[in-house]
Amino acid sequence: MRTPVAIVGAGPAGLMLSHLLAQAGIASVVLESRSREYVEHRVRAGVLEHATARLLAETGVGERMRREGLVHRGIDIRFDGALHRIDFERLVGRTITVYGQQEVVKDLIAARLAAGGDIRFECEDVRVAGFEGNAPRVAFVRAGRAEEIECDFIAGCDGFHGVCRESIPAGRLERFERAYPFAWLGVLASAAPAREELVYAHHDRGFALFSMRSPTVTRLYLQVPPDEDMAAWPDARLWDELRTRLAQEGDWHPNEGPILEKGITPMRSFVAEPMQCGRLFLAGDAAHIVPPTGAKGLNLAMRDVRVLSAALERFHRARDESGLAAYSRTCLKHVWRAEHFSWWMTAMLHRFPDNDPFQRRLQRSQLEYVVSSEAAAASLAENYVGYDG
Ligand code: APR
Ligand code: PHB
Repeated sequence: MRTPVAIVGAGPAGLMLSHLLAQAGIASVVLESRSREYVEHRVRAGVLEHATARLLAETGVGERMRREGLVHRGIDIRFDGALHRIDFERLVGRTITVYGQQEVVKDLIAARLAAGGDIRFECEDVRVAGFEGNAPRVAFVRAGRAEEIECDFIAGCDGFHGVCRESIPAGRLERFERAYPFAWLGVLASAAPAREELVYAHHDRGFALFSMRSPTVTRLYLQVPPDEDMAAWPDARLWDELRTRLAQEGDWHPNEGPILEKGITPMRSFVAEPMQCGRLFLAGDAAHIVPPTGAKGLNLAMRDVRVLSAALERFHRARDESGLAAYSRTCLKHVWRAEHFSWWMTAMLHRFPDNDPFQRRLQRSQLEYVVSSEAAAASLAENYVGYDG
């Protein structure tokens, strides 16, 4: 079979690309290795930038987000037991929306299927080829049968561990990378959020984050060593540590409740350049990873596919390749802004095991500056809600 665009991966990047292309009248096929059930329930990030929320709304997939998403006007940064508010709305006139990534994925899958879209789950042994010439194709095995799709372009939206980036011949990509000396232990609890907005806490024992998914579900994170074993964190220890790191004046603490899910996420920064090889274009986590401290991963994926769909549309309308030629350059500008912001938030808020007293004083000074200077707070706010420059 033949399709204009073969999309590998049904995460937010692949699904939104397929949705945007369909709206431009361009057909695509999405090939996903996991089941629909799996991708719809994988718990990931949950903060939508202003532009991401607008994109969902403007393209007709924002209905449930509008009803169930929580609009936040700022965040709190906590250190030395005190809370400091960063008021996005006052500082930069924008808000964010808290709405789980898996909810975005569910809404996009429902919209694609309702519009007759072609998403194939449980594809095994996906292989991409021919993208350096004029005959790109994707081979895969589904329900025991080998199949092949010929296409004009391949979109590699298959995440950090996908097959597309690694199929690009050696020497074509330059990789930029940072590993951090810690991980995040994430907890999803059936408990009403004890505050309305997020708290990013810097504590001598390590970073903690208070977040939420809905009026009945709290999302929490703790900084832990990179090789931490989940068995070291029975529920009682988890709640104790969260109380300690998030403690504020007035004895505030998160509400406790049954833990629905917990897991450990390594922290990494990564960029592959360029985000293209011939007729294969990388988008989202396949091309770059950020540590979750800036809540940028999902939003970056959305920015990439907006650029890619516009470029593909221009090509299909008028055989104009200029958008495709500029794709990587255009994306890398916003990618590197997000890389810097995520690295900076991570460095400011975590406890680095090897930091000497000089570095700890610098970190403290940075925290005090961000919460006391309008200019510094506005810079944080501008990046958090999404910088369009
Ligand atoms: N073949 C087909 N599909 C694959 C393959 C493969 N070889 N490898 C991975 N996939 C699928 C994964 O199962 C997943 O559904 O590709 C999809 C990639 O989705 P994500 O990892 O969610 O990546 P992306 O769509 O770029 O979204 C970025 O995800 O990791 C978070 O925080 C990150 O929010 C950000 C977002
Ligand atoms: C989340 O709610 O999962 C979340 C929020 C903010 C972050 C990271 C994760 O920076």
